[in-house]
Amino acid sequence: MRIALSTGGGDAPGLNAVIRAAVLGALGRGWAVYGIRRGYGGLLGTDKVVALDADSVRGITHLGGTILGTTNRGDPFGWRETRPDGTIVDMGDRSDELLAAFSAHGFDALITIGGDGSLRIAQKLFAKGLPVIGVPKTIDNDVAGTVMTFGFDTAVSTATDAIDKLHSTAESHDRVMVVEVMGRYAGWIALNAGISGGADVILIPEIPFDIEKVCAKIMDREARGRRFSIVVVAEGAIPLGGHRVLKGAASAGGGMEQLGGIAQQVADAVGQRTGKETRALTLGHLQRGGSPTTFDRLLSLRFGAAAVRCVAAKQFGVMVALQPPIVTAVPFSEALGAPRIVPLDSDTIMTARDTGVCLGD
Ligand code: F6P
Repeated sequence: MRIALSTGGGDAPGLNAVIRAAVLGALGRGWAVYGIRRGYGGLLGTDKVVALDADSVRGITHLGGTILGTTNRGDPFGWRETRPDGTIVDMGDRSDELLAAFSAHGFDALITIGGDGSLRIAQKLFAKGLPVIGVPKTIDNDVAGTVMTFGFDTAVSTATDAIDKLHSTAESHDRVMVVEVMGRYAGWIALNAGISGGADVILIPEIPFDIEKVCAKIMDREARGRRFSIVVVAEGAIPLGGHRVLKGAASAGGGMEQLGGIAQQVADAVGQRTGKETRALTLGHLQRGGSPTTFDRLLSLRFGAAAVRCVAAKQFGVMVALQPPIVTAVPFSEALGAPRIVPLDSDTIMTARDTGVCLGD
């Protein structure tokens, strides 16, 4: 057997741990393993294919990023290349070329590690006959079919740490600190880090927020002698009757609009309405970096090993998934329905409400 691995989309802590488990699991079965560098670039001429042995994956479980490189402009069905002068050139559908290159390398299976974009591509490649297995990655934790993606726990821990630190300035200066965390469609990071970090207001895409409610909460705290507040806002949060705040067009973001700026908008509105000194801060890609937490390392290793077991069982067209207490595999169709958003009746939402956190509604 010759199997190939690729990582696609934004990086997330745990990618290297998945690669390590998949490589060791495959080598242990006597298979040869190759890494397709930079998404599918290694098969389409913008990068290369590299052999992976035990040495290639030694000591990488705890490292952030991906030893294979990645891109969020790597869709073979709408291939785009960036020229040295920065212009992006549309190269059209190169999926047939990809399939031909895959066969030319003599690969028997592909394990692709990525978020919803990469999994959607995998589903289309599977429909064209490619034997592929997906591994769900995203710090946003919004892939359906699995109760958790790897990378999420680390991002929450980074965001919680940041909120803890922001308390110093907020409390010392009697300020309102508004911190923007990632989460395009789902507020998992904002909610989990916000509750754990003791935020006073948490704004998530699932609950359009009323700025007057946010200010009322801040002023209620003021009246009780709490002269500072911490607001955590997901990048995809939407004001009542408003829309997502964009900082870049889809063409610049690999087909995805670039979100960003909601924290500044909230901070400006709170400052105007309450007269309080406010500051905004965006955590951005800090949340995608660093060493994966123990939870993410273990989940990533479990996912990588499970993907190899799927190859061994010739179970293709599936994504490995955490359905506690087991890691199982679900068809791509199950994973690629609507994004997995925070259920409004979840006990985490109730915990926020019960502990006096304002959710903007
Ligand atoms: O999907 C993960 C994510 O971190 C989103 O929350 C965010 O909108 C996006 O990636 C940003 O990606 P990039 O800046 O790499 O294009």
